[in-house]
Amino acid sequence: MGERNTGYNKGFCKTGAKTCHISHSIEPLCKIQAGIHVVPHIFQAPHIIKPNLSMQTDENRWNDLDHHYMAMAHEQARQAMYLSSPNPRVGCIIVNAGGRIIGCGHTQPAGEAHAEIQALNDALQNGEDPAGSIVYVTLEPCSHYGRTPPCTRALIQARVGRVVIATSDPNPLVNGQGIEQLRHAGIPVEVGLLAQSTQELNVGFFKRMRHKKPWVRVKIASTLDGYLALPNGQSQWITGELARQDGQKWRARACALLSSRATVVQDDPKLDVRTVSTPRQPKLVLLDSQLRVPPSARIFDANRSVYIFAAVSPSTQNHPSNHPSGQITYFVAPNSHGKIDLNQMLECLGQLEINELHVEAGGTLTSALLSGKWVDELLIYLAPQLMGGGIPWAQFTTLPTNLADNLQLKWLEHVAIGNDLRLRALVMHPPT
Ligand SMILES: NC(=O)c1ccc[n+]([C@@H]2O[C@H](COP(=O)([O-])OP(=O)(O)OC[C@H]3O[C@@H](n4cnc5c(N)ncnc54)[C@H](OP(=O)(O)O)[C@@H]3O)[C@@H](O)[C@H]2O)c1
Repeated sequence: MGERNTGYNKGFCKTGAKTCHISHSIEPLCKIQAGIHVVPHIFQAPHIIKPNLSMQTDENRWNDLDHHYMAMAHEQARQAMYLSSPNPRVGCIIVNAGGRIIGCGHTQPAGEAHAEIQALNDALQNGEDPAGSIVYVTLEPCSHYGRTPPCTRALIQARVGRVVIATSDPNPLVNGQGIEQLRHAGIPVEVGLLAQSTQELNVGFFKRMRHKKPWVRVKIASTLDGYLALPNGQSQWITGELARQDGQKWRARACALLSSRATVVQDDPKLDVRTVSTPRQPKLVLLDSQLRVPPSARIFDANRSVYIFAAVSPSTQNHPSNHPSGQITYFVAPNSHGKIDLNQMLECLGQLEINELHVEAGGTLTSALLSGKWVDELLIYLAPQLMGGGIPWAQFTTLPTNLADNLQLKWLEHVAIGNDLRLRALVMHPPT
């Protein structure tokens, strides 16, 4: 169904998501393999609600040990940083009645054990009985059969004595039911300890569960006066070696890296993760309206899935048979200007279970994403240089006439990285 005999890899689709359709087929698409997919136009208001990173909870009801063990559970969760996507990064610590840690674990790759199962198995391997113990877990245990059986069942069977949860799971398939099942089995459950840490570690998962789109983090290397390249396009390198190494960590944690035809043709970047030890390369998303990026571009060198969004269908002319495209999937999603419909592109990536999308592009695409209110977070490396002119990283076609209408940001952090500054900011979308 829906396959095209184009001479290169074909794909198929299944399951009930609403936005992406394979070409020559009305089958809805969610799990996608290599092939060509036409994205139908669906109007949807841009998301305006931010995940609440500053959520306040009454954390006084827990004692110092509770805080300590939950902080350790978050340490565990961080070990799943490059591992667990599209599942959330979750950690679990099991403490026995004597106050001794008997098991710990974190989420494994999708389809393998969740943090609670890892921790229970760890306890058993240590020769410990988890019955009556306290379980500290950074996200509500799952209550449904997904890729793995429900964690609630394992906790109930292990007869644990109490469960402390950082925050409930926004996944509609769980969303309080895990807590309910545990309580129904007579296990006391408390929720809300260090919830913010879980949300920060899983911004992409929370965003996708709530808004069906990835968390969009735009990375820019900029001069102090706001330019990302010279007028001739040269941008390598504005920032120093340490800043570029730091940028690799942000690439590594993303599910996918996004760039544009213009940047790929100008810079020929590999856009992969090299200096961070990671079990998987993030997927690559390329916006190439007219399919003009040559097969020889270095972005095709890495062994990873590539999603190309285009305004035209691929043919033997623009997708030569020698294309190094073992894992390429095409999506045809034009807007009315012959470019890519960015809203549809993001909806499609949500269906492809992309939690965090890391954008490295020039001013045109960055500005288009900002104007459309699709950017959640800016990751700016600011070099102590003035260019005095060049390609600005944000330039809007419609300008505010009132300062109050400026796109508002909220600082998350500012740290020195070598000679540069790393600035992170949330983009605050006004409620409409
Ligand atoms: N300093 C940094 O952090 C940094 C990072 C990356 C790039 N750069 C520099 O940025 C420069 C390129 O910037 P640029 O502004 O020319 O290009 P860009 O922002 O990287 O990409 C713009 C291109 O994206 C494609 N696109 C598809 N759909 C779009 C849509 N709906 N809206 C906007 N763009 C869409 C279009 O190309 P098609 O029509 O061909 O598809 C368009 O030409 C290069 O010099 C590069 O070195 C700097």
